[in-house]
Amino acid sequence: MEKLLELDRLTKVFTLGSVISRVRITATDSVSFYIKPAEIFALAGESGCGKTTVARMILGFEEPTSGAIFYNGKKGTKNEKVWFTEGIQAIFQDPFGTFNPLRTVDRYFFETVQNYKLAGSKEEAIRLIDEKLRAVGLSYEEFSGKYPNEFSGGQLQRISIARALLTNPTLLIADEPVSMVDASLRMSIVNLFKKLKEELGVSVLYITHDLATAYYVSDRIAIMFRGNIVEMGPVEKVLMEPKHPYTKLLRESIPEADPNKRWDTVITLADTEYEEYLRAGCKFAGRCPDVMDRCKDEVPPDIYVDGVLVKCHKYAGE
Ligand SMILES: Nc1ncnc2c1ncn2[C@@H]1O[C@H](COP(=O)(O)OP(=O)(O)O)[C@@H](O)[C@H]1O
Ligand SMILES: [Mg+2]
Repeated sequence: MEKLLELDRLTKVFTLGSVISRVRITATDSVSFYIKPAEIFALAGESGCGKTTVARMILGFEEPTSGAIFYNGKKGTKNEKVWFTEGIQAIFQDPFGTFNPLRTVDRYFFETVQNYKLAGSKEEAIRLIDEKLRAVGLSYEEFSGKYPNEFSGGQLQRISIARALLTNPTLLIADEPVSMVDASLRMSIVNLFKKLKEELGVSVLYITHDLATAYYVSDRIAIMFRGNIVEMGPVEKVLMEPKHPYTKLLRESIPEADPNKRWDTVITLADTEYEEYLRAGCKFAGRCPDVMDRCKDEVPPDIYVDGVLVKCHKYAGE
């Protein structure tokens, strides 16, 4: 089977606090998954579970504590990062933060064209830019010479997707791409990912806490809780017949995004988050309705149940 991107036991430990009370948080604990060509893979879970840390390691903004990342079978190293390829592009949560309010948005496009030498003349550049804008339902005419504030959040997010497409990427990393977009426009943006997958063969790592859009758009999904993938498999199975007690709980209560929490500025931990991150056994033991004695001190194994990976003692010995 062809793997476009593969994460092999990716671990990131953050050290927080002062010298006296130092706390080590394993923000991602041996996270492994792969994404196939032309596949939408969702990484879902509530705020603080480690989703953005995964994205930041793939994009090279954060060095993994241990583990490896492969892109097209090639291992990324400290000097040779897989993410330096134009084949991987990112779409950020806050479209207004992506563009400087004092610059016209088209300048970003011309810069990208220049940096990657994507066109030989201005006409050629405009043709390319227009082609990518049309792929997201816009055009060069309606965008040329305009400033970010002349667009809605939804339009700006489409514009960032169009810019990401300039280099003909094979993989888009989209971290909460619709959480700051009007609820009424969210579906049209995630639909775009589906269209790009079907028409251009682009893969998407769709990071979200919104299970409804994840269900609608993705092929497979991984559910994260406190640094661990607790359930992973085809989206239909994971969300319609959830096995992990956390997935079951998550299905019933879908938390809203906090628009003030940008994907690069999270440093404070809530008290419960600390406690859960520092748990010895299953991190979910404190909230689990099915908790057993061993859950409190034994880390659950990864078990395959009906083609779905579940990290839960309940399924051991089945
Ligand atoms: N730079 C950092 N320094 C210290 N702790 C961090 C840092 N980035 C993230 N964390 C912590 O790691 C955990 C996972 O965070 P994050 O990956 O942002 O989660 P999510 O994107 O799922 O909300 C959180 O407890 C967060 O506070
Ligand atoms: Mg995040």
